[in-house]
Amino acid sequence: MIIAIDGPAASGKGTIARRLAAHYRLAHLDTGLLYRATAASLLQADKGLGDVAAAVAAARGLGLVEFDEEQLRGAGMGEAASVVAAMPEVRAALIQAQRDFASRPRGAVLDGRDIGTVICPNADVKIFVTASPAARAQRRALELMRRGEKIDYASVLADIARRDARDAERADAPMRAAGDALTLDTTRLDIDASLARAIAIVESRVIT
Ligand code: CDP
Repeated sequence: MIIAIDGPAASGKGTIARRLAAHYRLAHLDTGLLYRATAASLLQADKGLGDVAAAVAAARGLGLVEFDEEQLRGAGMGEAASVVAAMPEVRAALIQAQRDFASRPRGAVLDGRDIGTVICPNADVKIFVTASPAARAQRRALELMRRGEKIDYASVLADIARRDARDAERADAPMRAAGDALTLDTTRLDIDASLARAIAIVESRVIT
């Protein structure tokens, strides 16, 4: 069974994807880490974020495991990731590895922006996870504060809005719900309630 989870920043998609994977004992790939790691590799090599050739080389050099999440989850890296993610050449360099991950015999859960539309258009279940910008900014601010970052709510909200716009408006693989995705709005749901809804969606779509 392949489960595709897409949605905007801090919507809860990563947590839902991880928990769904544990529930169904499936492998999980957080595809945002691929774009974050590509951006991090460019910045470490002192290359500009606009250097397409260097970004493609960095994307090709990634393994799908062993990410330094501590480094990649910072606020700045999400922003940098969305810049390199808008480059069609970078996306092309990452497609096959994601499809290979999804094609393991038991299936997998992948989360990102284009899983239901581009990476796994034939996924058994597609969920578009969303929440109000205010709820998402609150969650992300809390997460970043727990990481020890000095942030304020207004700038987190502005960052999220800017990144959502860039992700939704890019020409290649823009963030959007697939036509056959079900939307899960987590604005008023905690993690357990969100997971319960997600499981109900999966059960409604697949005979397990
Ligand atoms: O956790 P959060 O939703 O803030 O970010 P993420 O999922 O780690 O993704 C970081 C950035 O990578 C996004 O803003 C997108 O620009 C890009 N991304 C993408 O273009 N396609 C994906 N499948 C996953 C992430």
